[in-house]
Amino acid sequence: GITRHYKFDIKMQNVTRLCHTKSIVTVNGQFPGPRIVAREGDRLVIKVVNHVQNNITLHWHGIRQLRTGWADGPAYVTQCPIQTGQTYVYNFTITGQRGTLWYHAHISWLRSTLYGPIIILPKRNVPYPFVKPYKELPPVIFGEWFNADTEAIVNQAIMTGGGPNVSDAYTMNGFPGPHYNCSEKDTLRLKVEPGKTYLLRLINAALNDDLFFSIANHTFTIVDADAVYIKPFKTDTILITPGQTTNVLLTTKSQYPKATYLMEARPYVTGLGTFDNTTTAGFLEYHSPLLSSSNSIKKLQLFRPSLPALNDTIAATNFAKKFRSLANKQFPCNVPKTVQKRFFFTVGLGTQPCAKNQTCQGPNGTRFTAAVNNISFVLPSTALLQAHYFGQSNGVYTTDFPIKPPKQFNYTGNPPNNTMVSTGSKVVVLPFNTTVEVIMQDTSILGAESHPLHLHGYNFYVVGQGFGNYNANTDPQNFNLVDPVERNTVSVPSGGWVAIRFLVDNPGVWFMHCHLEVHTTWGLRMAWVVQDGKLPNQKLLPPPSDLPKC
Ligand code: C2O
Repeated sequence: GITRHYKFDIKMQNVTRLCHTKSIVTVNGQFPGPRIVAREGDRLVIKVVNHVQNNITLHWHGIRQLRTGWADGPAYVTQCPIQTGQTYVYNFTITGQRGTLWYHAHISWLRSTLYGPIIILPKRNVPYPFVKPYKELPPVIFGEWFNADTEAIVNQAIMTGGGPNVSDAYTMNGFPGPHYNCSEKDTLRLKVEPGKTYLLRLINAALNDDLFFSIANHTFTIVDADAVYIKPFKTDTILITPGQTTNVLLTTKSQYPKATYLMEARPYVTGLGTFDNTTTAGFLEYHSPLLSSSNSIKKLQLFRPSLPALNDTIAATNFAKKFRSLANKQFPCNVPKTVQKRFFFTVGLGTQPCAKNQTCQGPNGTRFTAAVNNISFVLPSTALLQAHYFGQSNGVYTTDFPIKPPKQFNYTGNPPNNTMVSTGSKVVVLPFNTTVEVIMQDTSILGAESHPLHLHGYNFYVVGQGFGNYNANTDPQNFNLVDPVERNTVSVPSGGWVAIRFLVDNPGVWFMHCHLEVHTTWGLRMAWVVQDGKLPNQKLLPPPSDLPKC
């Protein structure tokens, strides 16, 4: 591979959407941020200079960061933030991955505006394991636009213990599209020719919502998930959770009416909180003189896709089940067949008592919280990885993260009531080369809710999923140990469970959290400390000299 250099100047930029102008944190003044394009095996050297008032970190979501945890990016986990005026160089190699990933700010809610695609092409002269696309379309990155300042929104939510305000629009490549007021001209247009097969990269960078996505009168063939090839399958609708990426083939019609096809996305909503049920849209435009000017759009027929109902958990689950590893000679499936460490995690919302002199806006005057095994994770004031590397964990973290919930979990009968949440910076310590299984069981105080769980530093295999209580005697009999999908973000189904397995082969400290930003804020997050192996190439590399200090 080669080395590719990027310079990311973090700066403020005025952006107008929905007739509302605000100053947002961007990379190089661009919204969404610039594309990173590389090949498998390349090294990326990205110099980040912070010109804004906020503390910043960047995370390269889904990049394995083998032995380079210092470049992973979650604030107070692998690094202290880059402060105003400071510079930090993220330096890492893309190993064994090709497809689409993305980067985003990983501190507070700054990722609401600071995100962009990472395009990883196969090594030179290595073909895709599917039909060669005619061309690539620009990646489509879903997001959320807030008229208000998202830092103010999250701070308000933290202070009051209540739910934060929802966004004002969903977006594709930063554009809300024609269904929103004052937004016609802010519409993503993808131009295609008839009778061709295109590669389309999809990224969900939305803060708080899973999204259904569809293009009127067109079918997708999904070929890749989270930068891993899968067994291709066809679908009209895609469900993509925050944190997930997927590549699809889109074959255009050879005969087509004089029409514009709408591409639409709107949320898949579980739980009983407030939500935004609006729809973002873009245009899929066939190259034709008739369609070339935006004025003519109005005279043409507009086709709209039909998306599943907002709460269609059946559609969501059936879709998730279709993903399978290629599991062939060239791309074998390395799912651990045996397990050395088993964990049972309840994941979900809970409540905590309100502080004495406060009024809280959570259920019955409590404050919302979110937890794994009833521990709501508190970020330390220095970074976990430094503390681990220098043997200075005292006062930073404790190693007593529970391997199962404090109380036997039961989904039937009374809805589980997670009110005994405590706080702490507790981690799990794992020896190098351990095989791990984690069962993640959804719990809730507000009705079942799905959670896109993201693990840093690894891909894991999704070996099983189901509704109701996980049954340790019967459910493992149905685990897929042949061709389970390999991902970095998986949905813990609403009212159900998911089982993942992975081999612990990357030393460092690795964050795991719900990728719904509001749940991360409330504490649905934890960390794995993975020890060095014995061999020199099994050890975490030393920290770079410009690593920011707290
Ligand atoms: Cu995409 Cu820890 O996040």
